[in-house]
Amino acid sequence: HQTQVVIIGGGPSGLLLSQLLDRKGIRSIVLEKHTREYVLGRIRAGVLEHGFVNLMREAGCSGRMDREGEIHAGFHIAHQGRLDRIDLAKHTGGETVMVYGQTEVTRDLYEARDAMGGVILHDVQNVQPHGLKDARPYVTWEQDGAAHRADCDFIVGADGFHGVSRKSIPAEVLREYEKVYPFGWLGVLSETPPVAEELIYARHDRGFALCSLRSRVLSRYYIQVPLTDRAEDWSDAAFWAELKRRLPEQVAGQLETGPSIEKSIAPLRSFVAEPMRYGNLFLAGDAAHIVPPTGAKGLNSAASDIYYLYHGFQDHYLQGDSSGLDGYSGKALARVWKAERFSWWMTNLLHRFPQGTETDLRLQRADLDYLFSSAAAQASLAENYVGLPY
Ligand code: FAD
Ligand code: DHB
Repeated sequence: HQTQVVIIGGGPSGLLLSQLLDRKGIRSIVLEKHTREYVLGRIRAGVLEHGFVNLMREAGCSGRMDREGEIHAGFHIAHQGRLDRIDLAKHTGGETVMVYGQTEVTRDLYEARDAMGGVILHDVQNVQPHGLKDARPYVTWEQDGAAHRADCDFIVGADGFHGVSRKSIPAEVLREYEKVYPFGWLGVLSETPPVAEELIYARHDRGFALCSLRSRVLSRYYIQVPLTDRAEDWSDAAFWAELKRRLPEQVAGQLETGPSIEKSIAPLRSFVAEPMRYGNLFLAGDAAHIVPPTGAKGLNSAASDIYYLYHGFQDHYLQGDSSGLDGYSGKALARVWKAERFSWWMTNLLHRFPQGTETDLRLQRADLDYLFSSAAAQASLAENYVGLPY
């Protein structure tokens, strides 16, 4: 193979970048370790920032999202028996978020790539980037027992947290920052109408809970659980009972339960790898950074990386200006760290920390009291939630 950009990883980051580049006449191939069915079977994020939504529009993949996605102008926080609302639009001059699942985003991107004849190779093994400091880097892999190679100008590592790209940067260059939280989120997807029109984030003495949704007939709920729990050990009945305990009575009374169609536990982690560029390799999305899910910044931070990379490649190939690519790591990291701060803050605000002291609890309560007594604090939350500017 000969191409301009090899993209390792066919998740939302890699697919969105290849689609955006193709529309500007920049050629790429995407190498994905798993099958398409496997990638589409993963239930992940559900809330899209307006910047992400605009990028999907620019990529020409927003038809179904604009028809079926829900625009949300606010969400609720349940705490101390109260249910308070954050008015996103009011505090941001009219900005909103879009509720539309990552699964659907990925499906739409696959369809758009197919329609344009984009090259996405699935089920590839042993992907390995080479010559990162050379003028002509290349990537090798195996498929159906045969060895393959693609020569290119640049390699993008969009292969998630466990991918090969970050690991191919020499240890003396790469600096990693990490914080692991002492709990996970147990998530359930069910074909039931959502308990409320808008999302509800709940702080409770028994632990955090979140009521989210994918559509009017598909709900997504999460509860904080110890890291030692296993999803198989949680029956549907036990999950619904625990969720109800953590919600205000008027909400719990409205909850429609049903069989789960997906149930899994995700650990919570803050992680940043610096720099996000090494020679001709650029890291993007989960390959470079992870946030705890509180505040829905994971997929959205991946999208802002893609925005910077897309513009960097465009300037490089169409105008001969490499300043965007040269500034990529610094620009992307500046925004990533703000998303890291926000997700860490929202996680601290709403979770029950097993080692937390009485003092920690009072500080957390004061944080919530301050939030709902200050328009400035609500504006700060709202501005971060809808997404900081690119
Ligand atoms: P990924 O989606 O991880 O895609 C990377 C792709 O690369 C994968 O398809 C993988 O198969 C492929 N790959 C990996 N290694 C290789 C290799 N060596 N060679 C080739 N291909 C490879 N965010 C939220 O905002 N809200 C949520 O509720 C939420 N829930 C989450 C739950 C879980 C269990 C996880 C893991 C993440 C969740 N996230 C959530 C985060 C969000 O889903 C990610 O930020 C987002 O998927 C990042 O996209 P990506 O394309 O960068 O990485
Ligand atoms: C969802 C996940 C989040 O982490 C969040 O903050 C909001 C919604 C979701 O999966 O729907």
